[in-house]
Amino acid sequence: MIYLDSAATSLQKPPEVARAMAQAVSRYASPGRGGYSASAAAAECAFRCRTELAGLLGAAGPEQIIFTSSATHGLNIAIRSLVSSGDQVVISGYEHNAVTRTLESIPNLEVRVAATKLFSQEADLEAFRSQIDRQTKAVICTHVSNVFGYILPIGEIATLCRERGVPLIVDASQSAGVLPVKTEEWKAAYVAMPGHKGLYGPQGTGILACGKESNPTPLLTGGTGSESRMQQMPSYLPDSQEAGTHNMPGIAGLHAGVQFVRRIGTERILAHERQLIRTLAEQLNMLPDVKLYLPGNRAVQSGVLSFRIEGRDCETVSEQLGQRGIALRAGLHCAPLAHQLAGTSETGTIRASVSAFSRQMDVMALAAALRNKMEI
Ligand code: ALA
Repeated sequence: MIYLDSAATSLQKPPEVARAMAQAVSRYASPGRGGYSASAAAAECAFRCRTELAGLLGAAGPEQIIFTSSATHGLNIAIRSLVSSGDQVVISGYEHNAVTRTLESIPNLEVRVAATKLFSQEADLEAFRSQIDRQTKAVICTHVSNVFGYILPIGEIATLCRERGVPLIVDASQSAGVLPVKTEEWKAAYVAMPGHKGLYGPQGTGILACGKESNPTPLLTGGTGSESRMQQMPSYLPDSQEAGTHNMPGIAGLHAGVQFVRRIGTERILAHERQLIRTLAEQLNMLPDVKLYLPGNRAVQSGVLSFRIEGRDCETVSEQLGQRGIALRAGLHCAPLAHQLAGTSETGTIRASVSAFSRQMDVMALAAALRNKMEI
């Protein structure tokens, strides 16, 4: 199979991920619940994974790393900790439904969208500058658009939030493992991400990195193996957010994935992904009916490329490519706001996205299939 849907899930993982997961199933008991070695080994694995993640994500320490089941889960904790009914929040024009539907579920919110122009870091920063005011309770911004691979100026947005005293929530779903994530340097309140994309962990894993000053409200309550006499959740991280038995096979796999990323380095992974997207864009640019959606400035583009074929339905094309063994995603990609900005709300886009394991021949195969589009 030619797999070009890594923005949804990285399918090819380092082999050590599956090995770590298989070992965890038979070696790890519940972490923090027993004085015996299988429980201690699980706790040790969780701690090592947190430590590795804190290093990769620039968090203050391992206790600031909360294990979640997905980026969506982490974003729910972050948003519900900072935003209540009647508040006003500012978001980017590229937010995923994980953010916008969560905001929609909180009554009487004023949601301001800081967006004026497609793929312009200057315009994005200016839009945030004009939308944030004294009433703003939180700014929520994705680091990279899951539809277009466009990189938002998150460092500058973080500086602006600090100057205005507004907490920042970053959705790093498409950037973790590919771009530097700097939780403490940004002074972000929260940074959420899945484990199964650029961190090469399994599905069902996610991370919420909490800023040093953050005190999230528990979304889930229950047993933690700590402070068991108390009927309230422990007040400290990570216990306050991790009720119930941990997903130890998931955490073990995630640990191996994060070790892989740190060994290779995000810089190399990004350079590889960019090279593939550049090749694909060059190939598709030669086809008369293909419209590409990518920034003029390639420095703000990561390993995702959205396109359309004039006169063809995106989902039909993607299904036909799927029948030929080329896997990619088409439609709105759960991010309708981004399509409003690009003028693709009616059509959606076809999205090719790559990972550290993607090869030149993968993108060439897609280009060849589209070149022979009469057959598709
Ligand atoms: N949010 C994921 C994507 O962009 C699932 O495909």
